[in-house]
Amino acid sequence: MNKAAEIGEKIPAQPGPRDERAAANSMTPDSVIPGAGPSPRRGETSRPDAPASRPGERATVRLRDTGDEEPPRYAPEWLELREPADAGARANDLLDPLRIRLANLPGKGGIVIHDLGCGTGSMGRWLAPRLDGAQHWVLHDRDPYLLHFAAVASPRSAADGSRVTVETRRGDVARLTPDALRGAALATASALLDVLTREEIETLADACTGAGCPALLTLSVAGRVEFGPPHPMDEEITEAFNAHQRRDGLLGPDSVTVACEAFSERGATVRLNPSPWRLGPDQAELTAQWLRGWVGAAVEQEPGLKARAEKYLQERLAACEAGDLHVTVHHTDLLALSRPTGGAS
Ligand SMILES: C[S@@+](CC[C@H](N)C(=O)[O-])C[C@H]1O[C@@H](n2cnc3c(N)ncnc32)[C@H](O)[C@@H]1O
Repeated sequence: MNKAAEIGEKIPAQPGPRDERAAANSMTPDSVIPGAGPSPRRGETSRPDAPASRPGERATVRLRDTGDEEPPRYAPEWLELREPADAGARANDLLDPLRIRLANLPGKGGIVIHDLGCGTGSMGRWLAPRLDGAQHWVLHDRDPYLLHFAAVASPRSAADGSRVTVETRRGDVARLTPDALRGAALATASALLDVLTREEIETLADACTGAGCPALLTLSVAGRVEFGPPHPMDEEITEAFNAHQRRDGLLGPDSVTVACEAFSERGATVRLNPSPWRLGPDQAELTAQWLRGWVGAAVEQEPGLKARAEKYLQERLAACEAGDLHVTVHHTDLLALSRPTGGAS
């Protein structure tokens, strides 16, 4: 059931996972969506000819054209659609070293966890019930609309039944300082790193390591996709999509390498684990939505692909509908254990 319905909330009428401009431009209901473009960097005025949307799968999720100055926004419907696949993909193997670190914290009170770019709060719903002890989650996002849903659908109890509380904080996580994380036991993020720049990831690493705060940074795109059955155009679309993700200094598939370097250079111990989406007939709706955005972004990057990509998308969507398509979308989870500074709760 829709989370908003579950909690008696109504999602205000807004376009769903496909944005208005894309819907207006699409040639058939399943045709290539003019995909994502670069979003302006913070503090910059974007070029007048630059499309305003976000790279990658995010192409399918924009609510509407927010104008050149505003960052892209993510539809709660899209975040809800991907939540089960995200939960199934997350790297459980990183939890044990994290639990050991948390168990060794001084003091017996509850812990504080900051979720950066929380969206509707899927990370907390997954992680809070897997950790023991009372937790206070500070949910950060720049989108107040998503923060609202994160607050009302927040987790209530920890693995051992201890209380979980939340607060929301609106702001730009790419400007976080060590002070903002002072005393925190953990910072988390999910599907965030790849939409940041090198400078922003370095700022994040400064904030975490400066506060002695471990970071669990999950589901960053790896730039690799495998299809069953394969298609001759898979590679070409993948390359165009990856190039699209790297526009305007965003890191896309390079984000994990950059984050590894940034945290390691600051003295943290970094561990990586794969966290792929494994999509089959049971995830047909998510697969179809993801495909539209993935191909749309590739075409925006390489307009010469348009006619062939249109045909490719139609074939892939037909196979998906028939239950004949399997897709592995590779992601990576990263755990960075910063040197403690003695301030964590
Ligand atoms: C792909 S969504 C992921 C949401 C959520 N973590 C999840 O896994 O469902 C990325 C989220 O990061 C937020 N975001 C992106 N850049 C941000 C920034 N610089 N400051 C604050 N929030 C940001 C977006 O508003 C969005 O909610």
